[in-house]
Amino acid sequence: MSDQLIIFDTTLRDGEQSPGASMTRDEKLRIARQLERLKVDVIEAGFAAASNGDFESIQTIARSIKDSTICSLSRANDRDIARAAEALKDAHRGRIHTFIATSPLHMEKKLRMTPEQVLEQAKQAVRFGRNLMDDIEFSAEDGYRSEPDFLARVIEAVINEGATTINVPDTVGYAIPELYGEFIRKLRERVPNSDKAVWSVHCHNDLGMAVANSLAGVKIGGARQIECTINGLGERAGNCSLEEVVMAIKTRKDYFGLDVNIDTQHIVAASRLVSQTTGFIVQPNKAVVGANAFAHASGIHQDGVLKARDTYEIMRAEDVGWAANKIVLGKLSGRNAFKQRLQELGVELDSEAAINQAFTRFKELADRKSEIFDEDILALVNVDGGQG
Ligand code: KIV
Ligand code: ZN
Repeated sequence: MSDQLIIFDTTLRDGEQSPGASMTRDEKLRIARQLERLKVDVIEAGFAAASNGDFESIQTIARSIKDSTICSLSRANDRDIARAAEALKDAHRGRIHTFIATSPLHMEKKLRMTPEQVLEQAKQAVRFGRNLMDDIEFSAEDGYRSEPDFLARVIEAVINEGATTINVPDTVGYAIPELYGEFIRKLRERVPNSDKAVWSVHCHNDLGMAVANSLAGVKIGGARQIECTINGLGERAGNCSLEEVVMAIKTRKDYFGLDVNIDTQHIVAASRLVSQTTGFIVQPNKAVVGANAFAHASGIHQDGVLKARDTYEIMRAEDVGWAANKIVLGKLSGRNAFKQRLQELGVELDSEAAINQAFTRFKELADRKSEIFDEDILALVNVDGGQG
């Protein structure tokens, strides 16, 4: 089995399904360019049959992006699939992503179809798509809540029809990591032609486990594609977050033993671009891309990081596109961090006693003010009269 993971970004499709996150064609193109810079393997650019606007966005992206595969979602019917193929006509590499729900609940209540009808429609869709394009992904919507024997029959049949990627979504974010990983593993065992397709995971974050579930789908289940979005943008509580899942794979390569193509130095810029475009603010304590992700406020941590960054940092801020980590001066900061900041500001006090006096005033100020800025420190040492 390959040790290379495919990163499939769906910010522009599933991310856009987030209420209030709709994007114009130009905004989508700007984000697609940033995703290409990131070296995302597959960009799901939209849902061609959903609207003329989405069709045009996919077409524009397909004509502009060369280094990533461009994908359009489509329901499992000929009209949608033909529309997707048309939008992708000029792509350097294109993929049609067709889906139909396979869980008893969705088949009975939403589709009002029998399992046999769903099976036939899935086969027909992949057969039709395969006549138009070589790269066909099939998703079993609500796959995780599907009956495993039936799901295995559907998957075996669509692989026989030529599906090249099989995606098993946890559409409603119901899965638990170990159970989801086992579900994928057993499913792959049940499907006799399973090795003829790449297996993919697509997890939603309703219980806050989208990243953990995706990683379990890879580690336990043997999936080799992860579907994710920048900042975890997506329907309801969102999708698996690209920056978190990629940095987990990179940082814990000792455990996963897998590689991704992603150029991580472009992660923060991608996060900012998506946040600015959609107006969805990134919470300060968000892993990897939050403003505090590499900020140290407590004196003990600051002292440790100043002596050796590994004491409290498992990744480098610079590796994901931050200029540097941050030592935030405040009431919890120690003398060592204060002294270091004086040096960075080019302030030379003439004795340890002068530093101690300035540090005392700094602590007094910090009790009144939650964050001390460089200007505050300069003002403090000016009063002292010892500024260099
Ligand atoms: O969550 C889901 O099931 C989806 C599919 C359409 C892939 O987004
Ligand atoms: Zn989804």
